[in-house]
This record gives sequence, C-alpha cells and structure tokens, in this order.
Amino acid sequence: MRVALGCDHGGFELKQEIMKHLEERNIEYKDYGCHSTQSTDYPIYAKKVAHGILDGECDLGILVCGTGIGISITANKIKGIRAAVCTDCFTAEATRLHNDANILALGGRVVGPGLALKIVDTFLDTPFSNEERHIRRIAQIETE
Ligand code: RB5
Repeated sequence: MRVALGCDHGGFELKQEIMKHLEERNIEYKDYGCHSTQSTDYPIYAKKVAHGILDGECDLGILVCGTGIGISITANKIKGIRAAVCTDCFTAEATRLHNDANILALGGRVVGPGLALKIVDTFLDTPFSNEERHIRRIAQIETE
C-alpha cells in the first residue's frame, strides 16, 4: 500500500508524526507538501493528494489541516474522492467499512498525536466491507 500525504501549516507537525509512524510500520508514502509551518492554502494540497489517488500513484490518502474540515471539503469536491474527517477510531473504521473512504482528514489542532496515530492505523488497516448495500450507496454519491 502507498499512502498520499498532504497538509497545510496547521497540519504540518502532525503530518511529520504520521510520516515517522508510517516509516516505523514500513508503509510507503508520498508527501505532497506542504513542507513547513509557513502559512499556506489547504486547497493546494487537498487537490494534489486527491489526484495522486485518482491517478493511481497512491491507494489511500491522509490530509491534515488545522481542523481537517477545509482540506476535506476541498477533496470531496473532486469526483471519486471520499474524504472523512475523523476524531475517533470508531468513525475511522466505519468510514472504511461503509463509505470506502479513500482519504482520512485530521485536524492538527484537534487531535493529539497519540490518538491521531491510532486513527491512522485504524483507517489504513480496515478494508472496505464490499457489502452490496454499501456499494449501492457509494454509487449513489456520484449521481446528482
Ligand atoms: C488555517 O489557519 C486553517 O484555517 C486551516 O488549517 C483549516 O483548519 C481550515 O479548515
């Protein structure tokens, strides 16, 4: 599995923790930026990560901004992306099982690194359920 990572300045420090954690777990990743705590615009990185997944460079993505909200709203505008903001492991598991979410969004100013890494593990380690009702509902997301 290859994970696409992106953040703005509000998520930079947590993204560093996530990169270290993925290295310890021998999980490959691609870092799409940003690369410092200097103020920047979260849509830039949401779009880079979303296209990294849609282009097949990566399988799943993790986006981090201050709240996880702006960066997930942006990613969810892109067809084929299902980004879920999670602040607990229950929703991280459910969004993989039920929504086949392909991006986890985290708030660097919301969750501490200990919880965030548990959420990351839950998200990455949970496969989609492949149940008919969930496949049907996900297909409906894409229609107007
Ligand atoms: C940046 O200050 C902040 O607005 C951003 O990281 C994010 O929380 C937006 O939703």
